[in-house]
Amino acid sequence: MSNNVQGAGVRPAQWSSRFAFIMAAVGSAVGLGNIWKFPYITGENGGGAFVLVYLACIAVIGLPLMMAEVMLGRRGGQSPIGTMAQVAADEGRSRSWVGIGFMATLASFLILTFYSVIAGWTMPYILSAASGEFGGIAAKDSDALFGGLLASPGQLLLWHSVFMGLTVLVSAGGVRHGLERAVTKLMPALFVLLLILVGYGMTSGHFGEAAAFLFRPDFSALTAEAVLVALGHAFFTLSLASGAMMAYGAYLKKEVPIARTSVVVALMDTGVALLAGLAIFPIVFANGLEPGAGPGLIFVTLPVAFGQMPGGSFFATLFFVLLLFAAWTSSISLLESLVSYLNEKGVSRVKAAIGGGLVAWLVGITTVLSLNEWSGFTPLDMFARFEGKTLFDLYDYLTANIMMPLGAFFTALFVGWKMKPAHSAAELGGWHRVWFPVIRYLSPIALLIVFYFNLW
Ligand code: PHE
Repeated sequence: MSNNVQGAGVRPAQWSSRFAFIMAAVGSAVGLGNIWKFPYITGENGGGAFVLVYLACIAVIGLPLMMAEVMLGRRGGQSPIGTMAQVAADEGRSRSWVGIGFMATLASFLILTFYSVIAGWTMPYILSAASGEFGGIAAKDSDALFGGLLASPGQLLLWHSVFMGLTVLVSAGGVRHGLERAVTKLMPALFVLLLILVGYGMTSGHFGEAAAFLFRPDFSALTAEAVLVALGHAFFTLSLASGAMMAYGAYLKKEVPIARTSVVVALMDTGVALLAGLAIFPIVFANGLEPGAGPGLIFVTLPVAFGQMPGGSFFATLFFVLLLFAAWTSSISLLESLVSYLNEKGVSRVKAAIGGGLVAWLVGITTVLSLNEWSGFTPLDMFARFEGKTLFDLYDYLTANIMMPLGAFFTALFVGWKMKPAHSAAELGGWHRVWFPVIRYLSPIALLIVFYFNLW
């Protein structure tokens, strides 16, 4: 067996620079998770205490895990499945560790099926925004507009199909092509636009209330389930336990410092989520909307804000275009674990992307239907935990709250206990001294505690 530092994978083309990797990783991390999901789950889970737990999960579990996954990816140099097989063999460990790769690939595939449906929502919003439909719109009309979209399986299917097509298109061409250039321009634009929205929120008269909601923790509002949701979201938003970071790490040059780079990616991702929260909650409070309104939160609130702003149609159009791009650069990474794996098995990239995208599209139709025709179909009602959950809710719950925390746990065990510390130290440099005890003890113990309180 090879004992060279990099493992013996057939090395695919690499990112041109550290900057290129950061852009791709940020492109993967920043997406619907930050702008759509973070605000609505924060609203559902009572605000401040939830945000604090989420930030702690990012720092104590998410960030060290990102370093671990990028490192594993670079050592294995293959798809997440290939990488785990390679690294386990290099370390003289059981082949079963490849299970981490399989579960990650399955999780990212399942996420992709519903991610595409939600991302599709941005497109009718772009059209509505551009045609000036949001001008002076009242909260209840915005609510009705969103309700109308969800009630139409045909529309949802159309936009889901377009979005999946866009994802397959880039994936088939190879992720490194064009991604770098697009992300470099679009991410800063999204950032600036969020800042404008936060600025607008400051004029709404409810900024203080929103800031207090987000940052003043009320631990009495925190449940064990909320902690699990915060944990799951830390993985979701950082694209962990889904193969994405491992797959992208496989294209990373040896000279790039993994630890520092991961810190940058995690900071940018967290920054975008917090900005999104600060942009949305002032509007929620100013318009008497319900923070716990659920997945429609930003689609109902933001049109109201844009509708009152000078130049609102322009900014609204730009915002939803940028959100579409942010979702696109994430969905490409969601498909990457599967495509890179199939590619290793001899299927061409084009065929793998089309085949994978097609199956994800088909499964995605069940999410389309759970938003309307099948909204009463909640198949796991016999378990208290899953009661009232539609298929879409179940995919989300299964991936973020079960598969990802489990995948993270086993990854931490592998790098903390099964891999030679000298090998991880060679990849992580000076940071290894801090990282190693965290990933060996702190992260797995924290995960066990969350599991324990959720099972009992
Ligand atoms: N991180 C992405 C987001 O926040 C979603 C994602 C999860 C992408 C897992 C890749 C892998 O939208």
